Amino acid sequence: MSFAHVRELLDLIIRWVHLIAGIMWIGNSLLFNWLDRNLERPEGSPEGFEGRIWMVHSGGFYDVVKKQLEPGQLPEHLHWFKWQNFTTWASGIFLLIVVYYLGGAALMIDPSVRALDPVPAIGIGVSAIVLAWVTYDVLCRVLIQRSVIFGVLGFALLGGLAFGLSQLLSGRAAYMHVGVVLGTVMTGNVWTVIVPSQRELVGAIKEGRAQDPALGKRAKQRSVHNNYMTFPLLFIMISNHFPSTYGNQLNWIVLGVLMVSGALVRHFMNIRFVYRAWMTGATATILAAVVALFVLTKPKADARAADAPRVSSAEVQAIVARRCTPCHSEAPSDDVFRVAPSGVKLQTLDQLRALAPRLKERAFNQRTMPLANKTQMTDDERARLAAWVDQGAVD
Ligand code: HEC
Repeated sequence: MSFAHVRELLDLIIRWVHLIAGIMWIGNSLLFNWLDRNLERPEGSPEGFEGRIWMVHSGGFYDVVKKQLEPGQLPEHLHWFKWQNFTTWASGIFLLIVVYYLGGAALMIDPSVRALDPVPAIGIGVSAIVLAWVTYDVLCRVLIQRSVIFGVLGFALLGGLAFGLSQLLSGRAAYMHVGVVLGTVMTGNVWTVIVPSQRELVGAIKEGRAQDPALGKRAKQRSVHNNYMTFPLLFIMISNHFPSTYGNQLNWIVLGVLMVSGALVRHFMNIRFVYRAWMTGATATILAAVVALFVLTKPKADARAADAPRVSSAEVQAIVARRCTPCHSEAPSDDVFRVAPSGVKLQTLDQLRALAPRLKERAFNQRTMPLANKTQMTDDERARLAAWVDQGAVD
């Protein structure tokens, strides 16, 4: 039993739990937001009646009513929705530790960004998460009456965080830490503001007194923030699959485009029942984001075969054997990756040919392979590999 083996298993189990809990949490959140916006409240409804909605789902009808309760009306069983959030966050933090912090922080450090040792790199990651929550929480309290100033300042600070992390950590670790910051802020909101406010509401009804309105206002502010953070956070959760984003030279701007457009699309979904042109707004946002992404992620350099000298397959195989197979082979010699990452093995010419466009994309266009340039591939080797691909990956 090796450490790498245990790590791989932990990664699998925790990631699965994280995904399930995340679906439950965000699913609940989207459903309740949707419910709130679709409630019907006919003219002349009684005081305390906030709305009603009929739904059909899996073989039955649901009649949901939202209302204020009078003292003494509190039911015996009241369902809270908070553990889905906690489980998502806790499993996310575990995953961060297992994938990024253990194993010498191999995915955190990229010498072409900055040559850090594992401990400082992890220190930067952890302090970013803690400081971001503290700053956010203080700003929320100070600027509770000034939501526009808060919005502008919040986005600027988040952009600053993304920029700062992208200058210190590997692109994927920078992205993931921005994601963990969002997840931590959302979870902090749930546990330090939203749940206490719900407790106060329940307590007020039990004791037959008025609810403290300040608490309700604070909870509202935080749940609005959480609502806008969901789409950006969901992108970051899957961002590791897209080296063209985190591996980009301007990766923090790419992230900014995706986060702003995600939050804007969420906004149009929020206002869609009161704003007729929401579909146009959402479509325009998505189109603008796609165009911006297309331009930003377009490969800059190109090794067109025409003027490059002919590169032989034997030469490419020798380069790959030096720089790639330490990880991408049947039995990797790398100290961290003991199983070929993503199942990609680059030992035979057929394997190289089958993946030729990806090899060029990762090693030449994006320079996100070899991981953290651990095997010290040279620029010349990258250009030769790319030329071989452009020349048709023939002998
Ligand atoms: C230190 C280990 C390491 C080395 C060396 C390495 N890789 Fe990878 N490779 C990884 C890891 C980890 C992943 C999975 C994560 C990812 O896709 O970023 C991966 C994934 C890949 C993938 C599959 C994902 C995709 O984008 O299609 C390709 C292709 C790839 N590497 C090509 C290369 C090439 C080409 C080289 C040599 C120039 C190389 N790698 C060297 C660790 C390594």
